[in-house]
Amino acid sequence: MLKNKTVLIGITGGIAAYKICNLIRLYKKEGANVRVVVTPNALNFVTKLTLQTLSGNEVYVDNFEIKEYKPEHIALTEADIFVIAPASANTIGKIANGICDNLLLSTACAFSKPILIAPAMNENMWKNPFVQENLVKLKNAGYHIIEPETGFLACGTNGIGRMKEPEEIFEKSVEILSEKQTLKGKKILITAGGTREKIDPVRYITNSSSGKMGLALADRAFDMGAEVTLISTFKAEKPYKNIVAQTALEMEKAVKENLAGQDCVIMAAAVSDYRVENVSEQKMKKQGGEVTLRLVENPDILQEICKLSPLCHSVTFPPQGGQRSQALNERIEHEADREQLSSARSSTPSPTLPAGEGVRANLTPETLTPPPNPLPQGAGECAKPGEIPTNPIYFSPPLIIGFCAESENLIENAKTKIRKKGCDYLIANDISRKDIGFNTDENEVYIIDKNLNIKHIKKDTKLNIAKRILEEVFE
Ligand SMILES: Cc1cc2nc3c(=O)[nH]c(=O)nc-3n(C[C@H](O)[C@H](O)[C@H](O)COP(=O)(O)O)c2cc1C
Repeated sequence: MLKNKTVLIGITGGIAAYKICNLIRLYKKEGANVRVVVTPNALNFVTKLTLQTLSGNEVYVDNFEIKEYKPEHIALTEADIFVIAPASANTIGKIANGICDNLLLSTACAFSKPILIAPAMNENMWKNPFVQENLVKLKNAGYHIIEPETGFLACGTNGIGRMKEPEEIFEKSVEILSEKQTLKGKKILITAGGTREKIDPVRYITNSSSGKMGLALADRAFDMGAEVTLISTFKAEKPYKNIVAQTALEMEKAVKENLAGQDCVIMAAAVSDYRVENVSEQKMKKQGGEVTLRLVENPDILQEICKLSPLCHSVTFPPQGGQRSQALNERIEHEADREQLSSARSSTPSPTLPAGEGVRANLTPETLTPPPNPLPQGAGECAKPGEIPTNPIYFSPPLIIGFCAESENLIENAKTKIRKKGCDYLIANDISRKDIGFNTDENEVYIIDKNLNIKHIKKDTKLNIAKRILEEVFE
């Protein structure tokens, strides 16, 4: 099963180190090449000779004992996965903070393939807020953590902190190694979080969305090989592109600026329907009595990009903004006429097209933004009015996925919404339930496509739900 795979095992100074002998055997049985790196402290718990004999390879401890053609921490990175088990609180903290004061840590810092960490420690150490903070940091940076379980601990107590059994660590690593890169070559834009609509410099209107679902989608899409752009209302320390947009208007701008060239757009953010009309520049003071805030409607970003996307595949962009407006206008007019926008997703009637066949009224050159520089050679020349440019840049219209959170009549409301918005899929979740949806780690959703077919995905972690959604829409 693991022929042609190299598994690098990292062992730290914890009592569970003796269990790794079994883990090595599991990998060897499946034909993997196993290499082992240990911290100096780990050798208090397990001998180099045992590990060497079981792995059939040299065991590495010291940074400066260079036997290979490259420094060892670089040579060791040439593995398919790095499994650190047991991972001590000490080593977890150091990896999370970029500390490299032994060979195992330097290797972890330089390792670019998946890293699986199996923590093992005393219950109080596990519950220590700094240890937890470090684990969150690692999870957010894309490390795989196989959480310890509750049971009898070597310190003589019963509690959480016992390393998962070697069989489970083995299975988890095999799952990671066989994770299909089904989204390789795809560009996916995802929005996440509840927007914040300012009232004054210190107050704002927001909603209960935590952004966890959008983040899970972005993480999963990245794991599956996609080039991800996450537009979120919060800063996310991630190995993919992250743009922070806090208000609905900022989010609209960021989405439109990054729309060209995307294969898929997933609008998981909870965008406020309204914003305050006149945001106070100064902090509002109590004046006694009532205050009235006048709210105005925010743009419906999902609906707008559904109208724009049919044009994405045929628009050419001049390299500079200068003369763009007129040329691009002409191009949009030309393409809209030529194609009749038969694939247009909006059902809003247009002055020139039959009802349901798309809208041109809201399209302006300003709403379409050029792809990032550098442009392909020769591309981006302006079309003269009525002419088809010689070197246009062609984009396929992105697949558009919206989310809807409903507190009643979930499916009926979702069906109405997908027709109104015109997206390819709508993911509906029930926010009246306390155990799923807003601000929880789990969700249960219905995937509705534009033909109103419905697929139910049962309650699961948001990461697993995200994987199912991506598999479903990209199958
Ligand atoms: C008998 C014994 C058992 C230990 N078990 C653990 C453990 O399970 N988890 C842990 O985080 N630290 C444990 N420690 C403490 C670590 O060995 C210590 O923090 C050390 O600095 C870890 O170094 P390393 O991360 O470089 O291997 C144990 C220490 C002793 C003496």
